[in-house]
Amino acid sequence: MAVNGLHRALRDATAPLHRQLDHHPLLQPLTQPVPDRHGYAIALAALQPIHVAYQTTLAAWQTHFAQPVGLDARARLDALDADLATLDQSPFPLRARWPEADRGAALIGQRYVIDGSALGGLAIATRLDRTGSDLPRRFLAAGGADLPARWRALLAFAEQQQPDPAAVIDAACTLFHTLLDHLDQVVALQPVRYP
Ligand code: HEM
Repeated sequence: MAVNGLHRALRDATAPLHRQLDHHPLLQPLTQPVPDRHGYAIALAALQPIHVAYQTTLAAWQTHFAQPVGLDARARLDALDADLATLDQSPFPLRARWPEADRGAALIGQRYVIDGSALGGLAIATRLDRTGSDLPRRFLAAGGADLPARWRALLAFAEQQQPDPAAVIDAACTLFHTLLDHLDQVVALQPVRYP
């Protein structure tokens, strides 16, 4: 359910892009009831450079808002690196491009996309728990039990800032496109092998 008007607008505008992302061949192992270990490792390896690049946005967020809202992105990156180590998989050696965000509205749009991805991650981690999978899932579960509360707090904070909704949506859509391009580039460099 949408938390507020800005959230509803963001979700509606990005839903088709989210569908493209969660149907991306590289991420398919994450959506399978019992993921193939190799495919799962490659998916995490492909996501790692995105979370590295995201750290720069966090620094800009702290400068702009001087208020820690949302998920601990450093902890998520550490969890991702730990999962990759368990899987004996290196991060994909491709630096992810990151769209510039020089205004509050753009920072909020980007944060929506990255923190929102933890919701899907938690759903996947919960499914892995149910199926008794031994795949490491510190990254997918990194949002933790208080994820719904942090998510609502982020969306409330975003609305309070009264940013230009069009600029927030534009930044979120731009980031979704950048993520899709990044995954396409990974596939071009390493064609996906299906089990
Ligand atoms: C880098 C990849 C991904 C990004 C950036 C992303 C982004 C997002 C965002 C922004 C939301 C919040 C939507 C809202 O406003 O309610 C969301 C929710 C969700 N995503 Fe993703 N997502 C990604 C990958 C996936 C994948 C692979 C799946 C697997 C099928 C998935 C499943 C979901 C689900 C189930 C929710 C809703 C969770 C809930 O409402 O509790 N996502 N995602």
